[in-house]
Amino acid sequence: MGCLRFTPIVVLQLTLCSVLQGAKWKYSGPEGEHHWSKHYPYCGGAFQSPIDIKSELLRFDPTLRPIEVQNYNLSLNEQLTLGNNGHSLQISLPSKMHISSLRHRYNAAQLHFHWGSSGRPAGSEHTVNSKQYAAEMHVVHYNSDKYANISMAVDKSDGLAVLGVLIEIGEFNPAFEQFLKFINGVKYRDQKVQVSGFNIRTLLPARLDEYYRYDGSLTTPPCYPSVLWTVFRNPVAISQKQFFSFATALYSSYAQDSATALLHSNYRKPQPADSRVVLVSFKEGRGLYGTHTVTSPFTRKRIIQQLLVGDLADLADEGLYQLLPSGSQKLHADERNELKDMQNLAKPKQQLLNPSLWKKSQTNRYVGKLALAEDTLCYGSLKQRVSHQLRHSHAENELVQALRDAVFPELNLKSYLDCKSDLALPTIRHILRGRPTDEAFELDRSLTKALMNQRKTSAAVKQNGPVTKYGGLSPATAPRKPLSKDYPHPWLLPMEWED
Ligand SMILES: *[C@@H]1O[C@H](CO)[C@@H](O)[C@H](O)[C@H]1NC(C)=O
Ligand SMILES: *[C@@H]1O[C@H](CO)[C@@H](O)[C@H](O)[C@H]1NC(C)=O
Ligand SMILES: [Zn+2]
Repeated sequence: MGCLRFTPIVVLQLTLCSVLQGAKWKYSGPEGEHHWSKHYPYCGGAFQSPIDIKSELLRFDPTLRPIEVQNYNLSLNEQLTLGNNGHSLQISLPSKMHISSLRHRYNAAQLHFHWGSSGRPAGSEHTVNSKQYAAEMHVVHYNSDKYANISMAVDKSDGLAVLGVLIEIGEFNPAFEQFLKFINGVKYRDQKVQVSGFNIRTLLPARLDEYYRYDGSLTTPPCYPSVLWTVFRNPVAISQKQFFSFATALYSSYAQDSATALLHSNYRKPQPADSRVVLVSFKEGRGLYGTHTVTSPFTRKRIIQQLLVGDLADLADEGLYQLLPSGSQKLHADERNELKDMQNLAKPKQQLLNPSLWKKSQTNRYVGKLALAEDTLCYGSLKQRVSHQLRHSHAENELVQALRDAVFPELNLKSYLDCKSDLALPTIRHILRGRPTDEAFELDRSLTKALMNQRKTSAAVKQNGPVTKYGGLSPATAPRKPLSKDYPHPWLLPMEWED
């Protein structure tokens, strides 16, 4: 609205925006996923989903509680809308259905599916150590503590929580039949039918306590990084025949279109990790990552505090590891206590990451520049602001890059404090902007040097997956242990709470 009083250039921008809002997108061809960012710049940005959930990203988190869902057992009288939106098969869900075990209450909005094709039954979005499952279900919820409905929540950094269920081919699944039996009623795009309510819980795997957790995005345009992801460890099975109904019954084209196009292979490919890690609620033996636990929120906060108000010149002179008073391998007494609390009580992290601590500390005047735990990024208005700043530029990629640069440090810091990312260099630089220039420069120099050493050290370590400049200080590429004394910056690596 306020935009209307600006110059014709802005009017042009608005026109452009309205064109962009309705832009078409597909899973292949000239409107396929590699071109999404042209019209939906966040698709080329940070913290995208899905990801390949690979062992080296996993960190065991003893505080992850079993997922608890409420009112999932819908009565027969409840009418649900089953629809084909041209991209997926979707079922609307009543908002009384919700997740009650997360930091906020998240009400359900809809569930939908991604699947492969009849010739290639591999269409899950998340993959586990590169293994792609036949299909995947997403149960989409919005943060109803903070937002009135899903449209208000979708472009907020704390807006959505999605439950992801991997689907493999196996036994016939009677729960899926509750809606698959109506699939021929929605063969074409925008067709809808009403179906009776059923127990939605039966679509989920039996165990809701074993899952992967990470910070990510919508896997379709506009790709906002607004999703708290939970992907259950155990897949559910559907029969070959049931899989074929997904793969062969639906069209992405309208009923009246002369050329029909089957709706299949509607999945996005895995996206870069962007310094994120994947928390796991379960401990798998004493093997691969069983002992590789996350650095405590306390330590993380202390590290950020050091960057915000610590003596940077000293830090740069004396070596970065001085940031941690007693080195990275020794546990501080209060961390031990904290760990005990977390394990015994499995408290929500909210209580440990109490934002009021920030308010009390002298760091507050710097913190104001950054959206910390309690604040929210709004991607819609950020895009408008950044587009406006770039209005004289015509390079397509510039908006994508500018938005990425704007959201990455915020998302990384928030995610880092919440134990779901490692701290990345662009974030550290972002924090240092609030500091005296020469000191910040010194520290930045030491940091860059330390990083280069780390890269050399890790060159020998097997590395797969895309690496971006935001990959930053991922310990996934660094030797796990031991962290030797001469290691350049142990405080940047995750510590273990136990051994
Ligand atoms: C779901 O609700 C129906 C009644 O609507 C009831 O008969 C059934 O036992 C319930 N199932 C579960 C698992 O609670
Ligand atoms: C969502 O809530 C906002 C704010 O209350 C309201 O303006 C909007 O119309 C609602 N949208 C839908 C689709 O209900
Ligand atoms: Zn989805």
